[in-house]
Amino acid sequence: MTGGRPAHLAAGAGRPAPAADGRLLFGGDYNPEQWDASVWREDVALMREAGVTTVTLGVFSWAFVEVDDDVWEWDWFDEVVGLLHDRGIGIDLATPTAAPPTWLHRAHPEIIPVDRRGIRYHPGGRLGWCASHPTWHEYSTRIARRLGERYGDHPAVRMWHVGNELGGGNRLCFCDVSSDAFRAWTRERYGTIEALNRAWGTAVWGLRYRSFDDVIAPLASESGQNPSMLLAFDRFSSDEHLAQFRRERDALRAAGVATPITTNLMLDVGGSVADYAGWVDDLDVVAIDHYTKAADPHRERELAFVASRARGLDRRRPWLVMEQSISAVNWQRRNAPKVAGEAIRHSVQYIAHGSDGALFFQWRASASGVEQYHSGLVPHAGTRTQQWREVVRLGGILNRIGEVAGSLVEPSSVAIVADIPAKWAWEEGQKPLHDYPIEAAGRRWHEALSARGLVPDVVAPSADLARYGLIVVPGLYAVDDSFADAIRDAAAAGATVVIGHLSGIVDEENRIRTGGYPGAFREVLGVFGEEFAPLLEGDESLLASGAVAVDWTERLRAVDAEVVDAYASGPLSGLPAVTRRRVGEGEAWYVSADIRDEFDDLVERVVAASGVTPRVPVVARVEAVRRVGEERSWLFLINHGETDAVVPAIGFELVAGAEVSGSLALPAGGVAVVRES
Ligand code: GLA
Repeated sequence: MTGGRPAHLAAGAGRPAPAADGRLLFGGDYNPEQWDASVWREDVALMREAGVTTVTLGVFSWAFVEVDDDVWEWDWFDEVVGLLHDRGIGIDLATPTAAPPTWLHRAHPEIIPVDRRGIRYHPGGRLGWCASHPTWHEYSTRIARRLGERYGDHPAVRMWHVGNELGGGNRLCFCDVSSDAFRAWTRERYGTIEALNRAWGTAVWGLRYRSFDDVIAPLASESGQNPSMLLAFDRFSSDEHLAQFRRERDALRAAGVATPITTNLMLDVGGSVADYAGWVDDLDVVAIDHYTKAADPHRERELAFVASRARGLDRRRPWLVMEQSISAVNWQRRNAPKVAGEAIRHSVQYIAHGSDGALFFQWRASASGVEQYHSGLVPHAGTRTQQWREVVRLGGILNRIGEVAGSLVEPSSVAIVADIPAKWAWEEGQKPLHDYPIEAAGRRWHEALSARGLVPDVVAPSADLARYGLIVVPGLYAVDDSFADAIRDAAAAGATVVIGHLSGIVDEENRIRTGGYPGAFREVLGVFGEEFAPLLEGDESLLASGAVAVDWTERLRAVDAEVVDAYASGPLSGLPAVTRRRVGEGEAWYVSADIRDEFDDLVERVVAASGVTPRVPVVARVEAVRRVGEERSWLFLINHGETDAVVPAIGFELVAGAEVSGSLALPAGGVAVVRES
């Protein structure tokens, strides 16, 4: 039974949902080439035991199917596909282009990326290819086409997975071919060299281009480099990887593939390898990889932020968590395992936020190779383990809540705006404050608003803002004029907009908007920022309300705005820190400092001003999110706390299979999904 897609959000219909058969996807990356054929049989039996529905196959299999240039060995792959199919396990088939074979690197070392210093990397890792290189294009599309021809109509193959984490290790390449492609890209973007000179402000340090022939990839120089050029190169590199996605996708389609095609995006607070907002229309489903950080005591909140961001990329369709870890990873400083129950909570949390499944890297933990200490659903120790019991339990839960597949998270009235190029603009070049995590403010807003039951969407600047009553723009450093207009219009139409510090400072080319900070929003906010006043490490600035700012303050004047809070200490004492201005039917607030202590009080005031109210029960430490289908809705409840909770709910609770009439007892760490009546 499927929840279906609510009519009011059906704009993107027509593309198949990942869980089209009404079951949530459960499983993960399966790398059978690492194991003897005898293990494959055990694998499929265990997959059945755990209720696995889907595996991502072939991510690293290239060298085993194309054993030499145009020499193919399909038998073993056919056998694995057949074994999975016989057991009813669906396949998300990957083009194996994350792992070019050694024969290809030996024959064509020129496809390997070149670093900023102009030095070519060597074979031995993964993603050893330059996205602009024609030889790479040829080989990568050939393998995609061959796979498509062979398995395009195989009934077990439900979805296709282009490459793996495109740009994840090879995002920037500085080889001559990339330089040429960058030059062509700049010609296309700017049209004339004068326009490029203006956009990049090349008069500074006399970096003046006479013709496009002068443009090269930003290889390392002896000093700092132009931040507009660096941002352009980030954008170019993102476009090259999108082009690679399209190339492989088109090869699959040309070979007759009719099922959904996607790739796994690296959507993370810290990760930003591509401008994914511009990729969405090319993907049949948004799929993300997400790994919580063991050292983060509130990792479930970061998860909620990232999941809200995945949902915000395309509100019309469910998305998919393509990779997470069942327990420890191998690449953090200290790779602590997940605690008992955590993987279940996290999986249900992604689904609460609109994922149509919970997939993992990887099925069986590797014994060797780079990832030998990365957890897998089948651990090194085998199945007589707490972890395996949890995997089986998780499979059971996902089976019981499968009817939510296809439904969407209830429309939210709160948006937080985030943008990857805006983050690049902040990170590229020299700044008033270095190593400052500009997206952290977004996460803090998300946490504080979520704690009030507001389930914010995290959306790109290009999103339609009309439906939101509260719009928060935290640390959105670079914005174009159309976004500034959209914010003004949203406020005029009745929304409460909150502009956070370091938003709207530069334009889309990384040029400062002069005439007073924050240039893009100065007028709508009714303020005039004279000077930035970043704080030295360890310093704090006290505000009149008792709030405390760290890292960032500004010398600000309220020109046509009410002062909500002012500095009460230091050189800015008496000057405004937080302002508010009536705009048409709505309001525009400016939070010019990085407020940490008593941040919640500010959030409370903003929420009160906006009039938005929660649509889910608000119980301390219990995350509540509603998914809505055509005829019914489901209330997801996740108790992240250490004490038992009681939550108001009425309906049928699917995890335990029990009627709920008024209130539900949710034990510490527990999860529940109530089909509401
Ligand atoms: C990424 C990759 C996987 C694997 C995991 C490990 O998500 O896509 O192949 O390396 O990281 O966490």
